Amino acid sequence: MSKVMAAHAVSVDGYITGRDAGPGRGLGDAGTLFDWYFDGDTSSAVFDGFRLSGPSARVFDALAGRVGAVVAGRATYEDSDGFGGASPHPGAALVVLGHRPVPGMSDRQTLVTTGVRDAIAAARELAGGKDVGLMGGGVATAALAEGLVDEVVLHQVPVLIGGGRRFFRELPAHVRLRLIEAVPAPGVTHLHYAVEH
Ligand SMILES: NC(=O)c1ccc[n+]([C@@H]2O[C@H](COP(=O)([O-])OP(=O)(O)OC[C@H]3O[C@@H](n4cnc5c(N)ncnc54)[C@H](OP(=O)(O)O)[C@@H]3O)[C@@H](O)[C@H]2O)c1
Repeated sequence: MSKVMAAHAVSVDGYITGRDAGPGRGLGDAGTLFDWYFDGDTSSAVFDGFRLSGPSARVFDALAGRVGAVVAGRATYEDSDGFGGASPHPGAALVVLGHRPVPGMSDRQTLVTTGVRDAIAAARELAGGKDVGLMGGGVATAALAEGLVDEVVLHQVPVLIGGGRRFFRELPAHVRLRLIEAVPAPGVTHLHYAVEH
């Protein structure tokens, strides 16, 4: 069965956005969380235009190359201006998770309103045997709470943002993790965990 992973760029104090993220404003004042996409000399084999450091390119492309479909929360979708009617990932289908209709979605995007389990199932169908990536702290936490996540990746950037949207929200119980790999790279440390089921 394909795996489900939640990989996010996150500050040391646990934020995936700044305070003023929103439509037309992206991550708000936390745009530096993605500086490591563009501050190196190695082109990504998956994302056109990304120029990462050597260690980051190895980690990033290995993860991105596994993904065949993405489940994004409504907030991620809206704050990213609907991904221009397409997908945030060049080789992956997009499923959007919300509790109600999401205006403006294109016919290349799939909406699920019946819960995170159904959204992940729909993504698996679209992923063609590849893995499913989760985008958004709300979605990642909902999936963790239901035991649906296999791997968690923190692309941890050495900054304390101090406010914004958190990667992890409240969970009903402990979730035990096992470190698969920790890779220090310029401007970011890649922490890759398996979720122990
Ligand atoms: N730093 C990074 O790597 C990174 C990665 C991804 C996203 N982001 C940013 O993170 C921000 C969004 O994150 P977020 O945590 O605020 O929101 P999110 O997870 O993207 O979206 C939350 C919304 O998803 C829906 N949802 C969540 N769980 C659900 C469930 N179990 N059943 C049905 N619907 C459910 C709800 O939509 P309804 O409103 O319809 O109830 C909820 O309001 C954006 O600004 C985005 O750009 C950053």
